[in-house]
Amino acid sequence: MRRPIIAGNWKLNNTINEAVELINGLKRELVDADGVDIVVCPTYTALSDAHEILMDTNIKLGAQDVYWEEKGAFTGEISPQMLKDAGCDYVIIGHSERRKYFNETNETVNKKIKAALAAGLLPIVCVGEQLEEREAGKAFDVIKDHVTGSLAGLSGEDMEKIVLAYEPVWAIGTGKTATPQQAEEVHAYIRGLLKEIFDEETAENTRIQYGGSVKPDNIKELMQEKDLDGALVGGASLKIDSFTQIVKGAV
Ligand code: 13P
Repeated sequence: MRRPIIAGNWKLNNTINEAVELINGLKRELVDADGVDIVVCPTYTALSDAHEILMDTNIKLGAQDVYWEEKGAFTGEISPQMLKDAGCDYVIIGHSERRKYFNETNETVNKKIKAALAAGLLPIVCVGEQLEEREAGKAFDVIKDHVTGSLAGLSGEDMEKIVLAYEPVWAIGTGKTATPQQAEEVHAYIRGLLKEIFDEETAENTRIQYGGSVKPDNIKELMQEKDLDGALVGGASLKIDSFTQIVKGAV
């Protein structure tokens, strides 16, 4: 059985004070949440404060991106070791916004995954097609390209530490969620790819989150799907009640 995992991707939101308030609220509301892994991914500046609050709780900390070098002349970047040092367990890699606005490619995603794993971080690796790609009937080709390119050269053992997130770009921040059937079709396809690349056991054990306009009122229905193991939540992760309801709705 795959344990569900709900992660909040806060994106470019919240000052340190706002982050502290939100995290204190989540800690209070989710203290009894059982049977689900919970992760919050604030901006870099709030990580240390978040870590202080979340230490010894059931909520884990993640970052939204990482660079692959350990240190050196790479102005503006942050290393996997620095994220560990700040208290992170997880890191989101290859989000569509990074692919779209910051030239992230499968190659850079792959390097980041390997560096994150080497530092003991658990990557949440995002894949997903854009609207034009779906409309052109190319959704599966794009997913295959993202999955095979991002995971190139990894072992089954590496995959035990990786969570995948299917985020159709047309559903992100649009209020237009993929239907559970649309999501399941892609999740099952991804699991099939994992079986081809790795093996049956690895494919069965890998958790695949759905992301894109996940809300308290659609999480239960999405979670009914066989290959859907949780959610990567954007907008609705910025409010104590909506994120709490999503976490509780996932179990
Ligand atoms: P929304 O939940 O705001 O659509 O964002 C999804 C997302 O991009 C999570 O990484």
